[in-house]
Amino acid sequence: MIKIVVNVSGSAHRKRGGDDSKDSKRMENQRGIIQEVADGSISVFFHNILPLLQTGTVCIFKFESCGGKAMSLHEKVALVTGSGRGIGRAIAERYAARGAKVVINYASNSAPAEEVVGKIVREGGNAVAIQADIARVDDIRRLFDKALDTYGRLDIVVANAGIELVAQSVLDFTEADFDRLFAVNAKGAFFTLQQAARHIADNGRIIYIGTSNTAFPLPGRALYGGSKIAAQFLVQVLAKEVGHRGVAVNSILPTAIEGAGVFTDGVRSEVREFVKSFRPMQRMGTVEDVADAAEYLAGDLAGFVSGQHLMVSGGGPA
Ligand SMILES: NC(=O)c1ccc[n+]([C@@H]2O[C@H](COP(=O)([O-])OP(=O)(O)OC[C@H]3O[C@@H](n4cnc5c(N)ncnc54)[C@H](OP(=O)(O)O)[C@@H]3O)[C@@H](O)[C@H]2O)c1
Repeated sequence: MIKIVVNVSGSAHRKRGGDDSKDSKRMENQRGIIQEVADGSISVFFHNILPLLQTGTVCIFKFESCGGKAMSLHEKVALVTGSGRGIGRAIAERYAARGAKVVINYASNSAPAEEVVGKIVREGGNAVAIQADIARVDDIRRLFDKALDTYGRLDIVVANAGIELVAQSVLDFTEADFDRLFAVNAKGAFFTLQQAARHIADNGRIIYIGTSNTAFPLPGRALYGGSKIAAQFLVQVLAKEVGHRGVAVNSILPTAIEGAGVFTDGVRSEVREFVKSFRPMQRMGTVEDVADAAEYLAGDLAGFVSGQHLMVSGGGPA
């Protein structure tokens, strides 16, 4: 449910002959009207301003989420790469909960991907799992073709699939390390965003999941950060190339996230203490924190936000 607070402009009331100071006080008293939104329909319940409305203007000035169906993605189709596990899964499940039909993508682990589909369907949603290795351009094309064959359109694409290799010195990386990381994180993200730009519906949303590492270059992160920053640049270029169609392109840059990647099986207490020592909010990020940002960027409230990098890091570095 959404609560909408509306305000009544003073001009119409003044026309009725009241003096300005008295009117503005009375205007203040007209605030605080509540209405309900359900399945896209709006009913407004006014308390004591009905006479004013006959000649006045009402403007909605504030939306407040009251939990539940805060935002609707009904009729939307979302594709999230790398969504069998971790951050991608949380984003896909969130979109499904908001009513979108969702394409789940995985590289080799079909069981978790099918589990996500099963959960979404049990909860009344609509989802399909499609295998595709994002390191292979042919696979990316096949993924988009199958998604379009299945649902007929794409409104939201999240380029999330990525692999991590950290805590290693520049001196120790091999050519194989370089090729493996850049194949998924740079080449894979590039061609995912290219396919997204080709196939996304007008007014659609393209979101890239980068990393806050690119804003805070730390020892050990050279290859990971280097491979992730390429698509961040592409986001800014693509935003300019597809903006005329109303399509918004943005990045989310999460910090270290509990329940995903290297922290899938938990976080050691010394890591937690270390995080507390420098992060203003003194906690790890969660997959839900990232899903919150992905929900915002996919929804109506972010329609004019494009070419941006939204850091989800509790105010701190990686
Ligand atoms: N975890 C963090 O702390 C963190 C922080 C900042 C940014 N990120 C970024 O967030 C994104 C998701 O990371 P995560 O930690 O959630 O990952 P994760 O828990 O390791 O899950 C990875 C998901 O991506 C899929 N995937 C991996 N390689 C793929 C490929 N070549 N083609 C298609 N799918 C592939 C996996 O499929 P399979 O199950 O089949 O392998 C799995 O579904 C990445 O881009 C990462 O750089 C993560």
